[in-house]
Amino acid sequence: MKFDLSAFKRNLLSKKTFDDILQTAENSDLKKTLNAFDLIVLGIGAVIGTGIFTIIGVAAAGGPESLGAGPALVISMLIAMLACLFSALCYAEFASMIPVAGSSYTYTYATMGEFMAWMIGWVLMLEYAIGNITIVSAWTGYFFEFLKGFSHILPAWVTNPPIYLINDYRTAVTAYQNLGLDPSVEIPKIFGVIPFAVNIPGILLVIIITVLLARGIKESTKAAAFMVFVKLAVIFLFIIAGAFYIEPENWFGSVDNWWQTFAPNGISGIISGAFIIFFAYVGFDAISTAAEETKNPQKNLPIGLIGTLVICTVVYILTSLVLTGIVSIDEINTVAPIASAMNKTNSNWIAGLISVGALAGLTSVLLVYQLGTTRILYAMSRDGFLPKSLQNIHPKYKTPHVVTWVAGIIVIIGALFMDLNISAELCDFGTFASFTVVCIAVLILRKKEPKRKRPFKVPFVPLFPILGIFFCGGLMIYSLFNLGTSAFLFPLWVVIGVIIYFLYCYKNMRKNQKG
Ligand code: ALA
Repeated sequence: MKFDLSAFKRNLLSKKTFDDILQTAENSDLKKTLNAFDLIVLGIGAVIGTGIFTIIGVAAAGGPESLGAGPALVISMLIAMLACLFSALCYAEFASMIPVAGSSYTYTYATMGEFMAWMIGWVLMLEYAIGNITIVSAWTGYFFEFLKGFSHILPAWVTNPPIYLINDYRTAVTAYQNLGLDPSVEIPKIFGVIPFAVNIPGILLVIIITVLLARGIKESTKAAAFMVFVKLAVIFLFIIAGAFYIEPENWFGSVDNWWQTFAPNGISGIISGAFIIFFAYVGFDAISTAAEETKNPQKNLPIGLIGTLVICTVVYILTSLVLTGIVSIDEINTVAPIASAMNKTNSNWIAGLISVGALAGLTSVLLVYQLGTTRILYAMSRDGFLPKSLQNIHPKYKTPHVVTWVAGIIVIIGALFMDLNISAELCDFGTFASFTVVCIAVLILRKKEPKRKRPFKVPFVPLFPILGIFFCGGLMIYSLFNLGTSAFLFPLWVVIGVIIYFLYCYKNMRKNQKG
C-alpha cells in the first residue's frame, strides 16, 4: 500500500469541531445546578490534600533528589500560584466557550488536532493516575502517625510494623539507611532475588476505593463536601494553634545570616521548591470538568477557578509560615510534617486530630482523582484512541467498571515501583505540560477564530497566556535539568506516548472512522 503523506498529516491534525463538542454538551442529560460557591467547594475538594499535608515537608527541607526552599517556601508558593493563575484564566476562557467535560484534552482536540489531543490525554495520566501514587504513600504516612496515638492499647505489630510492609522499595531503603541499618539485610527477598518492600495499607486503600467507584457511589458529592469541611478545619486548627509556637529565629536565624537561614539553598532552592509545591495546586482544573453542570458558566467558572486559587494560596502561605516557624528546617519530618510539627510542640491531641483530618482529606482527593482518571480514559476510548472495551458498563451497577479497574491497577503497579517524590514530580511535569498547552491553545484560537463568542476572555492577551507559558514551561525546563529520576522518566513517558500513538491509536482511529 502506498503511504500517503498528505493524508497522514491531515489525520494528525484533524480536529473535533466546536460544533460537535457543543452538540455533545447539548445532548447531555446533566442538570445545570452548580453555582460559584459549589464550584469552589469542588475545587478545594480536589486541590487541598497531599501537597499541603505532606509534600510541603520535601519542598521546604529538600528530598533525595531535590533542593529544599527553607522558610523561603512562601516565595516558592507565590511562584507556583502565578503559574496557576495565568493558566486558570486560560482554562476559564475555554471552559466558558466549550462548557463540556474533558478539560485540556477536549480543548486540545478542538485546537491542535488528534495527535496533540492524544499526547495531552497521555500526559494527563501523569497528573491523575501517577499523582495518586503520591497520595497513597502520603496516606500511609498519616495512617501510622495516627496509629501512634494508640500505641498504648494496640499491639506493636499494628502500630509499628516492619518498614518493608508499609513502604515502597525506594522509601524503605532510605528509611533503613536513616536508621543506620543495612537495607539489603532488612528487606526480605522473594526467591532470594527480588526484594519485597510494598506499601500494603496503601494498596488495600486503592482496592477499596476502586470497588466503591465500580459500584457507583451516589453519596460522593455530599461526602466530598463534608471532607472539605474536615480538612479545612484541621488546617485552620494547625495555623491557629501553631501560631503560638512560632519562633522567628526559625525563619531568619540571626541578623547577619538571615538569608542563609531563610533560603538555605538560595534561588535554586526557591525554584526547586516552587516546582515541588506546585503539586499542592494541582487539581483546580478539575473545576472546568464540571462546566456542563454549571449555571451561568460564563460568570461562575472564572469565579470558581480564581476563587479556589486565591483561597488555597492564602491557606498555603499561612501553613508554610507556621510550619517553618515552629520547627527548624532540619527538624521537618517529610512523612507527616504537619502532624509531627504539632507533636514537637507537645500538642499531641492536636497532632492526632490533624492526622484524622489529613486522612479524610487525602482519601477524598484520591477518590476525585481516580474518578478523573476513569473519565479521561473513557473519553479517549470514546474518541477511538483506546480500545472500545474500556467503555463497558457494568450490567448491575451501571458504572464504567472496566476502566475503573484499569485506573486502580495503574496506581497499584505504580505504587510498587515509585516513591512519593518521584510520583509527585512526574505529576507536576504532566500538569505543567498540559497547562502550557492550554495557554498556547488560547493564543492559537484567538488568531484562528477571533470572532467566536467568548463569554469569558483572558485579559491582556497575548501577555497573560505568554506569562503562563513562561512560568509553567520555565519551571518544567529548569526541573528537567536539575532533578534526577523523574527528569529521565518524564521524557521517556512522552516518547512511549508517541510510540503508542503511531503503533496503535493512529490505526485504531482510522478503523473507527471507516466503521
Ligand atoms: N493538589 C492535590 C494534592 O495536594 C493533588 O493532593
